[in-house]
Amino acid sequence: MSNILLVGNGAREHAMAEAILRSDQKLRLFSFMKANNPGISSLSEKIILGDYSNLRAITEFAAENKIEFAVIGPEDPLNNGVVDALVKIGIAAVGPNKSLARLETSKSFTRNLVSKYNIPGNPQFKVFTAINGVEAFLNELEGIVLKPDGLTGGKGVLVQGDHFATKAEALKLCRQILAESASLIVEEKFDGEEFSLQCLCDGKTVVATPLVQDHKRRFDGDKGPNTGGMGSYSLPDHSMPFLKPQDLQDGMEITRQVAAALLKETGNPYKGVMYGGFIATKNGAKLLEYNARFGDPEAMNILPLLKTDFVEICRHIIAGTLDKLKIEFEPKATVCKYVVPKGYGLPADHPDAASSRAKIEVGKVGKARLYYSSVDKKEDGLYLSSSRAIGIVGIADTLDEARKIAEEGVKAVKGPVAYRTDIGTDALIQKRIEHMKKIRKEKNMPGSQ
Ligand code: GLY
Repeated sequence: MSNILLVGNGAREHAMAEAILRSDQKLRLFSFMKANNPGISSLSEKIILGDYSNLRAITEFAAENKIEFAVIGPEDPLNNGVVDALVKIGIAAVGPNKSLARLETSKSFTRNLVSKYNIPGNPQFKVFTAINGVEAFLNELEGIVLKPDGLTGGKGVLVQGDHFATKAEALKLCRQILAESASLIVEEKFDGEEFSLQCLCDGKTVVATPLVQDHKRRFDGDKGPNTGGMGSYSLPDHSMPFLKPQDLQDGMEITRQVAAALLKETGNPYKGVMYGGFIATKNGAKLLEYNARFGDPEAMNILPLLKTDFVEICRHIIAGTLDKLKIEFEPKATVCKYVVPKGYGLPADHPDAASSRAKIEVGKVGKARLYYSSVDKKEDGLYLSSSRAIGIVGIADTLDEARKIAEEGVKAVKGPVAYRTDIGTDALIQKRIEHMKKIRKEKNMPGSQ
């Protein structure tokens, strides 16, 4: 019998818990959560609630329960050094140590690393700790992206055209960012379509998982504020309908080189997930950012498709032997739709903001899979919080079937909730294909399936 520790409390971790327990091996799951996720609780032998900065509580829980290894879901515990603390007491982990987690937690670290090791994929960029020189650099760029240097929950990036229009507005925002963050990254804006390439890495070997596209905007048609992600899809061939094979090769090559650079730079192998947020452009795939963990929602697209035992994958990541393991995924399409409180992502004075903390009922989701995220299970039922509530996933042979399954499942959640109806629809995917066609100045592109 082997005891595994899961750290995290979101829908991503619910999918991770399920993937761990699908193993044929005799296992027990122990979960450390910031808030009680009823899905993870129901799969766990024992749970403990606590803050992700409480490394003592996490290591004591791990030691008491004779944990073989830990799997870390979110970025916060990685940023707090949970892996360093576990390793110190002899417990290995799937997830990078604090220094390696800078891949996500410090955008300037990653941009500088990619530049220092002559790895392709970076935009033109400069890191600033003071406003001097910012205006001159803004004037050199055609399109501008501004990033505070630190964890922002996926919502801190400001893009010209979406969040501001003029260089004068950009300069004002730069001053605001520098007043709140130690540093600011100013980058060239790329035109293209984004995709998530989540790779497994043992420090030497990098293995791709199926490509996924997330939808960050709150409303249909990619309108409204950025969120943590409203839903995502993947295709049976594990590619994206708007990509060329070279785009995936570019993303893989960048990730392999970054893994090697991390080893050289820190002396430690990166063991965990390197999730590259890439953008396909007319000049191939470019790097937007890395995350040091699975994506949320993207984990819900890929983990249910795993044919290979996830626990074996974790053991090979820890042992540095990923090259010895064949990792396979079902050739299926997936669509994940996040059910969120109606007021999610909207200003506090919006009439729908009161939907947070309302009671919801969850009926039968049919053929869909359900992964709990930020819900509060009380004695009298399930309550929303202010964040994403439930991930509903459809899996099928075609994207359209997967979308219909997810759509049916979503309707089982009753209460003041919302979701995006357009994720995985042909219309939205055609829009992405046409966009890439225009950028590449092509006449014909292959269809989505
Ligand atoms: N899907 C965006 C993220 O996980 O950061």
